[in-house]
Amino acid sequence: MPAEITVLCAVSGPAETDVVLALGAPGTGTSVTRRCGDLTELLAAAAAGAGQVAVVSADLPGLDREAVGRLHGAGARVVALADDGPAERLRALGFEAVLDGPADPRLLDAVRDTARVDDPLATRENDLSALAGHDPEGPRHGAVVAVWGPVGAPGRTTTAIELAAELAGVGGRRSGRRRGRRETPAGPAASALVVDADTYGSCVASRLGLLDDAPGLAAVARAAGHGTLDLATLSRHAPVVEGRLRVLTGITRAARWPELPASALEVVLERARALVDWTVVDCGPLVEADELLMYDTHAPQRNGATLAALQAADLVVVVGAADPVGVQRVVRALEDLAEAPVPVPAARIVVANRVRSSAVGPDPARAVGDALARYAGVGEMHAVPDDGPALDAALLAGRTLAEHAPSSAARQAFAGLAALVRERAGADVPA
Ligand SMILES: Nc1ncnc2c1ncn2[C@@H]1O[C@H](COP(=O)(O)OP(=O)(O)O)[C@@H](O)[C@H]1O
Ligand SMILES: [Mg+2]
Repeated sequence: MPAEITVLCAVSGPAETDVVLALGAPGTGTSVTRRCGDLTELLAAAAAGAGQVAVVSADLPGLDREAVGRLHGAGARVVALADDGPAERLRALGFEAVLDGPADPRLLDAVRDTARVDDPLATRENDLSALAGHDPEGPRHGAVVAVWGPVGAPGRTTTAIELAAELAGVGGRRSGRRRGRRETPAGPAASALVVDADTYGSCVASRLGLLDDAPGLAAVARAAGHGTLDLATLSRHAPVVEGRLRVLTGITRAARWPELPASALEVVLERARALVDWTVVDCGPLVEADELLMYDTHAPQRNGATLAALQAADLVVVVGAADPVGVQRVVRALEDLAEAPVPVPAARIVVANRVRSSAVGPDPARAVGDALARYAGVGEMHAVPDDGPALDAALLAGRTLAEHAPSSAARQAFAGLAALVRERAGADVPA
C-alpha cells in the first residue's frame, strides 16, 4: 500500500473542519498532518517538511506569489480553494490547482494529483512561460539581457542605459561616413525597456533626468506579488523616455530592497518580454545568497532581484573597468558568477569600460583583453573607450549618449555592443 499523502491545511472559516474531515477520512490515502491558523504557521510547517501538499484558502491573509514560492521551495505543492476571484490572478500566484471553494467535490483528486508533481519548483517555470504567451495583447517574446559587474562603479548603469537606447534605435539610424569615422549601422527598429534592479545604488531615474521619484519597479513588483500584473499595469509604470525606450525606475532608497523579491521580479521580467523586444536589466553588483537566511522561510534576499535577472536572462553582459584594479575585480566577478546560487545562462559578453592608455599603457584594449584572456579565459572582449566629456555632458543633460552625443567615441562603442547583443540573443526577437 502506498504511503499516505501528508497534507497541511490552512483554510479559513467554518468549512475548515469539513476539509480536514474529508482529507483525513480512512481509505482516502491522505492525512492531515497540520491544521494551520495562518500563513506563518503554514510556512513553518512546510519548512519542517510536515506535508507534501498544502490546501489553502486563496484569500488567506499574506498569501502572495512570494509565499507560494516559499511553499514550493520547501517541497510542498499548493491547492487553493477560491470562492470567487479572477482565475487569471490566481494562476499568476503559481498554485498547482485552484478549486471552487472548500466544498468542491474534486478536492481529493486534486490533492492526489498534485502530490504526484515531482518538483513543485518546476510548476513555477511552467506557469511563468505560460504568463508571457497567455496575454491576449501580444504574442511578442522579447529577450532579456542582464547587465552585471563587480563593485567599484565599472559602468553597469551606463552600459545598461546606452545598450537599451541603441537596441531601441534611439538617435536614429546612421549610415555612411561622418568625419571619417565609419558609424555602426543600427539594427531594425525595436522597442526596449531598461529596468533598474540595483538594490544598492539605484540611479537610472536621475541618469535619465526623471525627477519623479516613484519607483516603477517596486510598484510592478508589488502587483506581480499579488498576481495582478498585466501588460497595461506594466506599461503604465514604465514610461517612454526617448523614442521607443521605456524605463522602470528603481527603489529610491537602498533600504527598500525587500520590495524587490526574486519571486516578483521573475514575473515582471516575463511580462516585459511581452511588452518590448529587449529588456535590459541594470543589476546590483553582488550575487551571493545569504546562507544564514536561506533557512529562514520569511527572509527575502538582498540580492534576489539581481539573481532573478541573471536567471531570467538570455544573455549576460559583464562590465568591468579597464584598469588594473577593475580587471582584477572582473576576473573574480566571473568566478562568482560561475558559482552563483541560481543557474545563469552560459552566454556572456564581457565589456571593458573606460579603456584608456593612461591606466594600462599603450594599446590599452589589447592589454586588457590579454589580461582577461590569461586570468579568466575570456575569449572575446568588447572595449568601450573612456569618454568623460561625452558621458558628463549626457549626464548633465539627463539624456542618453545616443541622443546627446551621437558621434562620441563611447556612443559608437555602445552601438557596436548592441550589434553584438542582437547577434547573440536576438534570434527570436521580431524586427
Ligand atoms: N566609458 C566611460 N567614459 C567615461 N566615463 C564613464 C564611462 N562609463 C561610465 N562612466 C562614468 O562613470 C561613473 C560610474 O558609472 P556607472 O555606470 O554609474 O557605474 P555603475 O553602475 O557600475 O556603478 C558615471 O559617472 C559615468 O558617467
Ligand atoms: Mg549603477
